[in-house]
Amino acid sequence: MKSTTTFAAEMQQDPVDAADKPDGGAPRRSLVCHLAILAATFSALVFYAHYAVQGNMASVIVSSLPLLSSITVDQNPGSAELPVALDGEPAPLTPRATVLEANRSTMTAPAPANRCDGRYIYMYDMPARFNEDLVRDCGNLHPWLDMCPYVANDGMGMPLGDEGGVFPGRGWYSTDQFMLDLILHSRMKRYECLTNDSSLAAAVFVPFYAGLESGRFLYNHSTSVRDALQLDAIDWLVRRPEWAAMGGRDHFLVAGRTTWDFRRKADVDELWGTKLLRYPAVENMTVLVLETSPWNRTNLAIPYPTYFHPETAADVLAWQEKARKTERRWLFSFAGAPRPGSNKTVRAEIIRQCRASSGCKLFHCGGGVVGDGAADCNSPAGVMRVFESSQFCLQPRGDTATRRSTFDAIVAGCIPVFFHPGSAYTQYTLHFPRDHGRYSVLIPHAGLTARNVSIEETLRKISPEEVRRMREEVIGLIPRVVYADPRSRRVGLKDAFDVAVEAVIDRVAKRRRGEGADVREREH
Ligand SMILES: *[C@@H]1O[C@H](CO)[C@@H](O)[C@H](O)[C@H]1NC(C)=O
Ligand SMILES: *[C@@H]1O[C@H](CO)[C@@H](O)[C@H](O)[C@H]1NC(C)=O
Ligand SMILES: *[C@@H]1O[C@H](CO)[C@@H](O)[C@H](O)[C@H]1NC(C)=O
Ligand SMILES: *[C@@H]1O[C@H](CO)[C@@H](O)[C@H](O)[C@H]1NC(C)=O
Ligand SMILES: *[C@@H]1O[C@H](CO)[C@@H](O)[C@H](O)[C@H]1NC(C)=O
Ligand SMILES: *[C@@H]1O[C@H](CO)[C@@H](O)[C@H](O)[C@H]1NC(C)=O
Ligand SMILES: *[C@@H]1O[C@H](CO)[C@@H](O)[C@H](O)[C@H]1NC(C)=O
Repeated sequence: MKSTTTFAAEMQQDPVDAADKPDGGAPRRSLVCHLAILAATFSALVFYAHYAVQGNMASVIVSSLPLLSSITVDQNPGSAELPVALDGEPAPLTPRATVLEANRSTMTAPAPANRCDGRYIYMYDMPARFNEDLVRDCGNLHPWLDMCPYVANDGMGMPLGDEGGVFPGRGWYSTDQFMLDLILHSRMKRYECLTNDSSLAAAVFVPFYAGLESGRFLYNHSTSVRDALQLDAIDWLVRRPEWAAMGGRDHFLVAGRTTWDFRRKADVDELWGTKLLRYPAVENMTVLVLETSPWNRTNLAIPYPTYFHPETAADVLAWQEKARKTERRWLFSFAGAPRPGSNKTVRAEIIRQCRASSGCKLFHCGGGVVGDGAADCNSPAGVMRVFESSQFCLQPRGDTATRRSTFDAIVAGCIPVFFHPGSAYTQYTLHFPRDHGRYSVLIPHAGLTARNVSIEETLRKISPEEVRRMREEVIGLIPRVVYADPRSRRVGLKDAFDVAVEAVIDRVAKRRRGEGADVREREH
């Protein structure tokens, strides 16, 4: 396991970067509630989007219908899905996907026999100490930050206004990166195929806010304090009759942080994190995390939440259109901070090259370096404005291999540039296309630290035609990597949640059939 130790050592050597450290990525501005703007948008035209999948070619027809028709259509939300090729690979949205085309016959399409067959989810009704009480006690979710504004609106946070044209004034929120436990539980409450009969269920959802909960004590010295509620939850779980059916191998849980927060190796107070992912019971389950361990593929990585939470498919289409049309005056940009103390990190080199290039926009976060024109990287509008006006967005590793910023860039239609395959390719195998070159650029980090690679030259070698094609691919990924507004009952698009739930159901079905193969193994 030489590679294990090397990687671990590297991670430890990487000094904490304030811009990317576990809590630094969250927006910290206090925001005025803009509910009035949200309400006003409801008066706008009502769209009904119907997406038809034809083999690998996806076509999208969006009909503008009177309100009455949209209510009729609403009763069959399952008929509307964003295009996804049948093998689970995302299909690119072609430019014609945005053509608005009236077709009233889509209204009368017959409903499928039972679209819930094989898709039922049983969700436990857990004692409030495992979920609701934590939200109610939001003032204590973090030792020094007030998380209450971020648990608002089912975990989306406070609504953002249009911020001078950066956002459309609808569907955008000041979302903290560690809120998925809450967002996905809310989403699951409105899942169309819930059942109270666990024997019917394809999978069992455990609404324990493991990620949110662990945030309270990650900096507490006592391992027993950190582990207490997680042990309590497991103890509760393994006593359920529903658990006994498969020893938990049909259960899944969302722990909306990276795996490294739950992989403590021993009960030594100096070691980081809890042991959640090391308990035998939890190893039987599927845990959805923001980043998995490269050496243990039993859990699944899902996208970090972004600021975008569309309420309907029309919101996504409108945003994709904006992302296509926006003027991208910068060839590349970087939003982040240097790692203090070393000139040799990838970040230091990125910042050096960016400063030296007239084609690069540096959104330089403070990160402990004082008086260096630091920008407010916690400002959703500030970060998104830069990404929306850039063709490529540099995504070096953060504290861990992955970064929330990658998903903010994709949502902005900015082509991500990675320096390490572990930053995306080996992680988001469910959500990203297998062919990495279609939507991203990889510049191996060794070339940067050796100072023999120019980022600008590498990117300029890509033809404008190819850049356009890649950007279209990135824009086509948007629905797949965002989490729809969990309160919406008529989303009509296949979002990151749907992709993840489908993968879990798929995995459990294989386990039932006695196939050991893991959903992710096909990727490796
Ligand atoms: C409308 O939909 C029907 C059935 O899906 C299709 O056969 C027809 O070609 C469509 N018409 C237009 C104008 O797209
Ligand atoms: C399950 O049972 C609860 C409590 O009786 C009820 O509120 C809920 O609607 C039921 N859900 C389904 C999907 O039948
Ligand atoms: C750890 O948590 C316990 C229980 O809440 C508390 O009493 C203690 O002061 C905390 N210790 C530190 C160092 O934060
Ligand atoms: C985990 O699954 C295995 C295999 O089904 C089973 O033998 C074991 O008892 C399960 N563990 C727990 C804690 O339920
Ligand atoms: C990975 O998790 C499995 C349980 O799912 C466990 O048996 C195995 O020891 C773990 N492997 C490593 C390398 O930690
Ligand atoms: C980094 O490089 C600059 C000049 O290139 C030098 O002045 C500075 O001392 C270096 N810092 C470190 C920590 O090596
Ligand atoms: C740059 O240096 C690295 C590390 O020495 C090496 O692996 C890589 O091949 C070099 N790249 C080029 C383009 O020379």
